[in-house]
Amino acid sequence: MGKHSRTIKTLREIALEYGVGEQPDLAAMARALGSVIHKDTPVAGDGLSKLHHAKRGFQRWLLGERNKPAISVLIMSWPPNYYTPVHDHGGLWGVEVALYGALEVESYERESASNALRFLRRDWLGPGDATWFDAGDTHAHRCRNLSRHDTALTLHVYGGQLAQYSAYEPAAQQPGEQANQWLAQTQHAAIAGRLRG
Ligand SMILES: [Fe+2]
Repeated sequence: MGKHSRTIKTLREIALEYGVGEQPDLAAMARALGSVIHKDTPVAGDGLSKLHHAKRGFQRWLLGERNKPAISVLIMSWPPNYYTPVHDHGGLWGVEVALYGALEVESYERESASNALRFLRRDWLGPGDATWFDAGDTHAHRCRNLSRHDTALTLHVYGGQLAQYSAYEPAAQQPGEQANQWLAQTQHAAIAGRLRG
């Protein structure tokens, strides 16, 4: 097993170790994952180099999962300039970390009663940088691969299996209607396959 496979295995172990309890310490998980990635960007090894060079569009790969406490660990590959819609995470807590390349993340706060979204901030994540959110239905974000030429890779840890989530689109405003209304659409998170870490 090469050095990079060990790194991927270590990242999965950290996610499983920190992802326990009602409210896992996501900041601590993000720091621990980030410090490993800063030491060794895990791209060149088997598995990930395949994803890095893939020209197959946006993909989710399962790196690990556990039922109790529920957790899933995924690696996603982002084609150049690819961006997601504004989306939630099905009520799960989550940590999303850049492994290779850089992402822009726009965070929103969602009012669950009215489907209004309030823009909070914009962050840029380089390798080892993370964004995280607690369980609940108030967080949403949109992410974009900042590179126009290169595939980005990210690591995602969620407090369960993210089979379904919602994507949000601004609703066309009719006269007399409230501004800032968003239409939610259910999405199914397809898994491209399992990674051996
Ligand atoms: Fe996300």
